[in-house]
Amino acid sequence: MFRININNQSFLCAKECKVVQAAREQMVKVPCACVGGGCGICKVKVFSGQYEMDKYAKSALSDEEASGGYILLCKAHPLSDLQLELIS
Ligand code: FES
Repeated sequence: MFRININNQSFLCAKECKVVQAAREQMVKVPCACVGGGCGICKVKVFSGQYEMDKYAKSALSDEEASGGYILLCKAHPLSDLQLELIS
């Protein structure tokens, strides 16, 4: 189980769990719409920590954004504690 910090909120997320799913289960409000990696609403900046991403649409997260440390909460699994920041 890893600790996810996003702005001033904190919650726990298991490796096999998607970050947005854990946030919802622990009543932490995060932006999300399609929950399928297609809209980009759940895009956040990663300041520290390791993660892996399931497949998503490049229109939701470009290669440039991905290499710049942005992730989609609906497709990200933590591999360590994560420090994130909302961008919208
Ligand atoms: S909620 Fe649409 S890409 Fe994550």
